[in-house]
Amino acid sequence: MSNMKHSVTFKLLVGTIGVTCIVLCFNLQWLVKLKPLRRTSTDGNLTCRGKLPEDTITPLKDLRTFIIAPYLDNRERNIVRILGIVHHTDAKELYCYFCCANTTVLQSKAEIDVHEDRFGFPYGLADIICAEPPQCRAAHVAIDRSPSEDIANLTVFPIRNRETATPTANFTVCISTMFGNYSNGLQFIQTIEMYKILGAQKVTIYLNNCSRQMEEVLQYYTKEGTVEVIPWHIQRYLKMSKSWRYPNDDTEIGYYGQLSTLNDCIYRNMYSSKFVVLNDQDEIILPFKHRTWDNMMESLQRENPNVAVFVFENHLFPHTALTDGNFTNMSLWNRVPGFNILQHTLRQPNSPDIFNSRKMIVDPRAVIQTSVHSVLKQYRDSQYVPLESALVYHCRDPPEEPAPTSSLIEDKNIWRFNETLIRNVNNMLNHFLK
Ligand SMILES: *[C@@H]1O[C@H](CO)[C@@H](O)[C@H](O)[C@H]1NC(C)=O
Ligand SMILES: *[C@@H]1O[C@H](CO)[C@@H](O)[C@H](O)[C@H]1NC(C)=O
Ligand SMILES: *[C@@H]1O[C@H](CO)[C@@H](O)[C@H](O)[C@H]1NC(C)=O
Ligand SMILES: *[C@@H]1O[C@H](CO)[C@@H](O)[C@H](O)[C@H]1NC(C)=O
Ligand SMILES: *[C@@H]1O[C@H](CO)[C@@H](O)[C@H](O)[C@H]1NC(C)=O
Ligand SMILES: *[C@@H]1O[C@H](CO)[C@@H](O)[C@H](O)[C@H]1NC(C)=O
Ligand SMILES: *[C@@H]1O[C@H](CO)[C@@H](O)[C@H](O)[C@H]1NC(C)=O
Ligand SMILES: *[C@@H]1O[C@H](CO)[C@@H](O)[C@H](O)[C@H]1NC(C)=O
Ligand SMILES: *[C@@H]1O[C@H](CO)[C@@H](O)[C@H](O)[C@H]1NC(C)=O
Repeated sequence: MSNMKHSVTFKLLVGTIGVTCIVLCFNLQWLVKLKPLRRTSTDGNLTCRGKLPEDTITPLKDLRTFIIAPYLDNRERNIVRILGIVHHTDAKELYCYFCCANTTVLQSKAEIDVHEDRFGFPYGLADIICAEPPQCRAAHVAIDRSPSEDIANLTVFPIRNRETATPTANFTVCISTMFGNYSNGLQFIQTIEMYKILGAQKVTIYLNNCSRQMEEVLQYYTKEGTVEVIPWHIQRYLKMSKSWRYPNDDTEIGYYGQLSTLNDCIYRNMYSSKFVVLNDQDEIILPFKHRTWDNMMESLQRENPNVAVFVFENHLFPHTALTDGNFTNMSLWNRVPGFNILQHTLRQPNSPDIFNSRKMIVDPRAVIQTSVHSVLKQYRDSQYVPLESALVYHCRDPPEEPAPTSSLIEDKNIWRFNETLIRNVNNMLNHFLK
């Protein structure tokens, strides 16, 4: 098996203003050899009578390979890119079984490209890539370690992204994972309302765990059409570490499989959204010069026509240093637990000596693989957006060694949105608390 090699990978390092374009070099040997398997029936469904997946994550028989979803990808050539979580040394041989429209099942060997960012954990995200057989028009594909399995014994996955219609949303926010009895309801509601004010039509959330009231909040926004909840019970399959970096213990994958959810979210929204915003639920990419992401991105794109990945500085507004804004009409807000972002107007100075994380707004159609703070493989350039234009407004607990209060920087940018935000949150709460 030969590997897709990228000669240059864009990696963001502290302090670098990186603009790099990657060149992809292909070795096409693996594209060959599609073996027709037995043709069992004239009924298409009978040839492909494997069962459909029942969860966002599906283990293969080996219990060491976990399929998320296949995505058709004809940006360069016709392939089906199957996102899967694999053991990095163990995933050697996998086969795709395409259920063709004409009832034939075609099998081919997959190329396995384990994403470079695994942060030391034994399991990581991989692109399991198979050439799409010509004239096959497969709606489903199955994956197995053996080339001679009976498809009836396999799970057949619907192939997504066959339709490449023009985007219906300008901005979709991808929230990687909500976990651990998450119950910061007020901040969450304010954050969703801010995303909408800034121009998001949709928020995709990979849900591992949250409180009962948060479940109701998510249901409210799902009904409204803003939120799409993707169940993400990764701990059913792999030993989860709460840390992003491998602590050298018996855990198998880091930070609730964040990298898998971010990549899945990009592919899921590739053709439905003009831009995808990658951040956590306690983060908002907040412009200084513009009032909406639409205006900000229009200006950034005009200045940087070859850029598809815009990278924003993260700035921490600690929950421990709050300011009252003397705003009125917030009496309903006490009925939902959580922090009030309008009180977060003091930010920690970023230290030039440590890695300050970054978050991104991307054109999903230009991204091949993404990490958390940078993309790994892409078709167009990346650009760092300076603090004068926008920042990642990150309201959370202070770090273990918090900056002294006297060093905090006053930043009342969020107050520009006070009227709309208060009105929209009240409107939501009036319906929600009924
Ligand atoms: C095959 O047909 C059955 C019953 O009509 C349906 O439940 C199943 O999802 C179909 N399988 C596929 C792979 O489409
Ligand atoms: C179905 O299509 C595949 C892919 O083009 C081809 O290899 C196969 O021979 C076709 N089978 C039939 C029965 O037409
Ligand atoms: C499919 O599963 C059945 C029952 O587990 C087994 O007997 C059979 O050998 C499997 N087919 C193949 C081709 O492995
Ligand atoms: C998306 O952006 C375009 C151009 O900025 C705007 O005209 C359009 O109304 C926006 N669509 C939505 C659904 O907000
Ligand atoms: C979160 O975890 C608790 C405790 O394990 C469980 O009772 C609850 O159902 C979980 N909630 C969700 C949304 O998964
Ligand atoms: C989850 O959080 C809610 C709200 O803070 C709390 O009432 C509840 O006891 C918590 N549940 C668990 C299982 O920790
Ligand atoms: C707070 O707002 C009220 C009116 O809403 C005003 O009368 C009062 O002076 C304000 N207080 C401060 C400290 O700005
Ligand atoms: C408070 O809300 C009421 C109606 O809900 C509105 O008439 C009033 O203008 C609001 N006050 C402020 C200061 O926004
Ligand atoms: C609240 O928003 C209004 C309207 O945008 C603005 O005029 C006012 O200055 C804001 N209040 C504060 C305290 O920033």
